[in-house]
Amino acid sequence: AEPFSEKLRVPEALTFDDVLLRPKESRVEPDDADTATRVSTSVELTVPVLSAAMDTVTESGLAIAMARRGGLGVLHRNMDIDEVVDEVERVKRADELIIREVVTASPDQTVRAVDEMMDEEGVSGAPVVDDDGEVLGIISGTDIRPYLEVGDRDEVREAMTDEVITAPQDVDARDALELMYEHKIERVPVVDTEDRLTGLVTMQGILQRREYDTAARDADGRLRVGVAVGPFEQDRAAAVDEVNADVLFIDCAHAHNRNVIDSARELAAGVEADVVVGNVGTREAAQELVEFADGIKVGIGPGSICTTRVVTGSGMPQITAVAQVADVASQHDIPVIADGGIRYSGDAIKAIAAGADAVMLGSYFAGTDEAPGRVVTMNGKRYKQYRGMGSVGAMQSGGGDRYLKDADEDEDFVPEGVEAATPYKGSVESELFQLVGGMKSGMGYVGAGTIPEFKRRAEFVRVSSAGQTEGHAHDVVITDEAPNYSPDS
Ligand code: XMP
Repeated sequence: AEPFSEKLRVPEALTFDDVLLRPKESRVEPDDADTATRVSTSVELTVPVLSAAMDTVTESGLAIAMARRGGLGVLHRNMDIDEVVDEVERVKRADELIIREVVTASPDQTVRAVDEMMDEEGVSGAPVVDDDGEVLGIISGTDIRPYLEVGDRDEVREAMTDEVITAPQDVDARDALELMYEHKIERVPVVDTEDRLTGLVTMQGILQRREYDTAARDADGRLRVGVAVGPFEQDRAAAVDEVNADVLFIDCAHAHNRNVIDSARELAAGVEADVVVGNVGTREAAQELVEFADGIKVGIGPGSICTTRVVTGSGMPQITAVAQVADVASQHDIPVIADGGIRYSGDAIKAIAAGADAVMLGSYFAGTDEAPGRVVTMNGKRYKQYRGMGSVGAMQSGGGDRYLKDADEDEDFVPEGVEAATPYKGSVESELFQLVGGMKSGMGYVGAGTIPEFKRRAEFVRVSSAGQTEGHAHDVVITDEAPNYSPDS
């Protein structure tokens, strides 16, 4: 047998702080760098950034914000199947040209009741429909106000505009705008051939879509969304696939596991959506996944709230993990996602240099308004709750099988994550702007105008601990916090 001491001839594995990108001659201005990429074989993004499938990070609120700005949110799986289906539908509906869940009024309602209803629902007008759904008119604030002030009758049928301009089911944005222009109106009910209401197009909706011109959208123009699914959760996979989730993320802390791989392969074969499988961190694992996965997610223990490495003694420093997986995945043209441990935009672009096509972040987004965690104040500073999916709290809420633990044994968890807090950051928009802006500047330093070119061109240098210290702000007292740098993160 081989002497045990041979085990100590160990290969080196590196992470973000161990390396820097070597600057190169460049003709690329950061603003011109194109960050378009793929997260899976058939899903493209304009921004190579994903928000983590964690119950303090991604629900529909953040998923909508991410997709509108060209990235992708991955819904967590600490919720029932019905809830996650609802959440997917919420994202899919968010920027739809034709609103399908229309607030309607009935002709016999009082004007006052409709006024209150519109207020509650946050809409400024409503189609008036009879019991069969046929459109009889449309009522808006402008119709209602005089009736409330001086009118002596109080029925919607009196107050509504009864010459309604409607659009057919296949209306597109241009047709709708023309109708609005021609008739000086702001909303057009969409009807079937029997004049029954099937949807509504609004001017506000059209303008909103235009504002997000680099959004991640599916073939029908709806926002894209990812969904985390347990390796053995065929029902959840089928349910979210049915409502057009774009990418399923088979979510497991250690996907290089026989049962996980067998089940994931079966699950992937049964759904329409692309299926990304993870997490892994070695060549051998990647070799197995390229056979059936549409994307591979990398990260064994790099996360800010992860304790996998200290609890289990196992893990793989992230830059090496990404490079090993990318070696294999790139030969099969399968995208790689670097998941966890990214604190700064520099880390994100290093992950891409190491072979990733996109990056996934948890803590970076957990402090934003769009994330679901609670805001707490400690020592006069605001934070948001952020916890590992392998923390006791998150596992008690249902996520135990990510760690291949039985979700029913609620008392005897061996956690692999902590429950924590992260500084409150306000809207995700500025966070994403800083992250992507820093990544583009990184592309500029390497002289690469696109992500594929950057991946080819980027080279690393090794950094000593003295070099790391030199790289951070040092020997000064920071007086004004920068929007993209905090020394203690
Ligand atoms: P960051 O560093 O962005 O990492 O906050 C987010 C990623 O961490 C993973 N994750 C965990 N890993 N124990 C772990 O070992 C946990 O409790 C845990 N929760 C999340 C996950 O891959 C996530 O995307």
